[in-house]
Amino acid sequence: MKKKKLIVLTTVLLLISFVFAACSQQTETAETKQTADYSKFTDEAKECLECHALETPGIVSAWDASAHAIGEVSCIDCHQVEPGSPMELKGIEDHEDLDVSLSMLVPANVCQECHEDQVEQFHASGHERAYLQMEAKESMQALMYYHEGQQNEELGGAPAETGCFQCHGSRIEVDETGHPTPDTYPASGIGNVYPNGEIGNCVVCHTRHSFSIAEARRPEACASCHLGPDHPDIEIYEASKHGQIYHSDGDNWVWDRAPGEWEPGDYTAPTCATCHMSGIGDLEMSHNITERLYWNLWAPLSKPRTEADVFDTYYGDGEKGRELMTQVCLNCHSSALVEGHFASSDKAVELYNQEYFLEADAMRTDLAEKGLLNDNPWKDEFEVVYYYLWHHEGRRARQGAIMAGADWAHWHGFFEIMQDIYKLEELYKERIETGAGN
Ligand code: HEC
Ligand code: HEC
Ligand code: HEC
Ligand code: HEC
Ligand code: HEC
Ligand code: HEC
Ligand code: HEC
Ligand code: HEC
Repeated sequence: MKKKKLIVLTTVLLLISFVFAACSQQTETAETKQTADYSKFTDEAKECLECHALETPGIVSAWDASAHAIGEVSCIDCHQVEPGSPMELKGIEDHEDLDVSLSMLVPANVCQECHEDQVEQFHASGHERAYLQMEAKESMQALMYYHEGQQNEELGGAPAETGCFQCHGSRIEVDETGHPTPDTYPASGIGNVYPNGEIGNCVVCHTRHSFSIAEARRPEACASCHLGPDHPDIEIYEASKHGQIYHSDGDNWVWDRAPGEWEPGDYTAPTCATCHMSGIGDLEMSHNITERLYWNLWAPLSKPRTEADVFDTYYGDGEKGRELMTQVCLNCHSSALVEGHFASSDKAVELYNQEYFLEADAMRTDLAEKGLLNDNPWKDEFEVVYYYLWHHEGRRARQGAIMAGADWAHWHGFFEIMQDIYKLEELYKERIETGAGN
């Protein structure tokens, strides 16, 4: 080979390798902004991180900045399962050289190995039953599949899959490769039931893979589920004085202080978490969101909570709940303000019970006994207005009053149930007089 040709060839080769080096460097910086020190992890754990930094950089970078990365908890600690687990993944080419069995799904019992109290409290809360109670109620199955799904064999699952499941959860099934099936997943609901029988999805408030308490303390963490015409908790909060303060001053608050140390001063007004979950003053943090409740405010008839079974409508210890909730308020308010607030809002709940729900229910029972209701409740005007009275407007009145959102207590609440009850009275009178049902 001539010397000149050799020089040209070497230059070309050098140039190519420079370009390669530059490219790979560029993709590396675009992959993950690595801050965790991988040298602390076992070789097995490192393998997942290194390959997934290329395959799913979004997941690795969220984890990389989290308390888990600092605490040396990595992919393998949550995704490893016993061989033979119903959720074991099979047939992933890139996993063939691994010595461990893995699952894509991570139920609450995995977290329990390190966070025992949180998981136990979750199981003792109303969130536990979110999927199961929906599955158990025939009227709900009929609503989802028969009415909303229009009994369409192929497409009829859509309302449940895109709606109910995404808040309540689903019963997740897996195919022969261990991957969840499209009609049961993704399910971002709180009460998922997993193929190994475990219940509970911990990532709804502290999203994977950051698992941040700062996120969970923000009202937005509850807002993807607690909103809308039938339980507008985020709207009520935003309309309240507390929400006003959060929106105007929240950017200046300290959000990431350890539980138990997050106290007034870090913030000036409560968020959903502060009242329903966080430690404050002498109160300890709890993942049992039922613990601080007195009433049941979603049921047709509101009664104080007295029952010990988590599936019971009146589950909880209401007296104790009111005491604990009052303790929250007293960190920032005088007892005169707190007592005054609960005196008026309890009055609102009682008024709803006595003058609206019980009146409507008595008329409905009478019509049912006289055979004057349609078999299909969703086609019967009386039944539909009755449903709105307790399920939409009546909840808005009760929850708006008790969480101090005046617009919801009144204009979206009492003002509308007043119209509902007049309409029901008119329909009732008509049916009794004519003897004709809907
Ligand atoms: C050599 C590369 C490589 C290694 C090593 C690796 N993975 Fe994966 N992993 C992949 C690829 C590729 C997929 C498939 C992604 C897809 O389907 O979009 C995957 C999928 C997954 C999934 C989701 C299941 C799925 O099919 O989408 C999980 C969970 C997972 N890996 C965890 C791990 C854990 C934990 C480790 C370490 C024990 C690990 N991986 C090691 C490349 C790798
Ligand atoms: C603290 C526990 C935990 C750790 C650590 C963890 N994961 Fe996950 N991962 C989860 C949970 C919970 C889910 C949600 C699964 C479900 O829906 O049940 C999940 C879901 C996934 C999925 C499928 C979801 C999707 O969006 O496609 C992949 C892939 C995955 N993880 C990979 C990883 C990798 C890679 C790492 C390491 C960087 C990692 N995980 C670390 C808990 C964890
Ligand atoms: C192998 C043990 C282990 C497992 C499994 C585990 N964690 Fe953790 N977790 C830790 C450690 C260690 C920390 C950091 C120290 C601490 O704050 O307690 C932590 C911290 C946290 C935090 C606080 C983050 C912050 O901002 O301070 C949350 C939230 C959390 N984990 C949720 C989960 C969830 C949800 C799961 C299951 C999907 C899970 N963890 C699984 C060990 C674990
Ligand atoms: C992924 C959806 C989802 C998120 C996020 C969520 N919840 Fe819930 N929550 C539900 C569902 C569904 C129910 C109804 C459960 C049932 O009774 O079956 C519920 C019920 C409740 C109840 C009533 C419990 C009872 O015993 O009747 C309270 C209080 C509550 N949630 C507070 C919160 C707070 C506070 C947050 C945020 C820190 C939050 N939730 C985040 C879905 C969610
Ligand atoms: C946007 C999220 C969301 C969707 C979608 C949703 N729910 Fe709910 N559901 C909730 C929340 C939050 C509560 C708790 C209300 C409260 O505490 O006031 C609840 C309460 C309930 C309750 C009363 C609680 C109990 O234990 O009896 C039932 C039943 C129910 N939902 C069934 C359904 C069904 C069936 C669907 C679909 C047809 C559905 N939900 C769609 C969020 C949702
Ligand atoms: C309804 C929302 C919600 C759900 C669901 C939820 N968390 Fe939390 N979690 C929070 C909030 C809010 C905090 C911070 C509490 C505080 O301010 O004191 C927190 C804090 C934590 C911490 C930090 C504890 C510490 O001492 O550092 C851990 C660990 C944790 N959660 C684990 C879990 C596990 C495991 C699950 C599933 C069983 C779960 N969480 C489900 C809202 C939630
Ligand atoms: C100032 C404290 C406070 C804040 C902030 C707050 N709540 Fe409440 N919440 C209460 C009180 C008090 C009750 C009624 C308890 C009782 O039964 O006496 C209640 C009731 C509820 C209920 C009704 C439970 C049932 O029986 O139907 C839900 C759901 C709820 N809150 C969710 C939320 C969500 C979501 C947020 C944030 C968007 C929030 N709360 C913000 C204090 C608060
Ligand atoms: C972290 C402190 C904090 C906590 C906890 C708290 N609040 Fe407040 N609250 C405030 C502040 C600040 C205001 C605004 C006071 C003003 O309007 O000047 C406010 C305003 C109110 C108002 C409007 C009336 C008024 O004087 O402005 C009511 C009603 C109220 N709170 C009730 C409650 C109840 C009930 C609880 C417990 C369930 C509670 N608050 C918990 C800080 C708090």
